[in-house]
Amino acid sequence: MPAGFEAVLDDAELAEGELRIVHVLGQALVLCRVRGRPYACSGECTFEDGGDLGAGHLDGYSLRCPVHGCVFDVRSGRIVSPPADEQLPTYEVRSEGGRLFVAHRPRGF
Ligand code: FES
Repeated sequence: MPAGFEAVLDDAELAEGELRIVHVLGQALVLCRVRGRPYACSGECTFEDGGDLGAGHLDGYSLRCPVHGCVFDVRSGRIVSPPADEQLPTYEVRSEGGRLFVAHRPRGF
């Protein structure tokens, strides 16, 4: 296992366009696959009610929060549509030996 990463799922278990909640260091993250590539981001919306993004809707790279409808890009955490004013933490994902590994810390931390 790469240092600083946690095994979360078999690579083959994550279908294209699916949202999966995984836990890394006890924190709920959203894992998804778009155009064959896996992405991970915080499972909690950055807007005021901290909506459950695992119950959100994924359309291409855009993840919509189920509470007030803000949209984030799962590649970068960039806000695509408000009301959120803080971007979403994203995590590096690696595929090795048929397993998916997610970084313990978000990008930039
Ligand atoms: S909690 Fe996500 S948009 Fe309000």
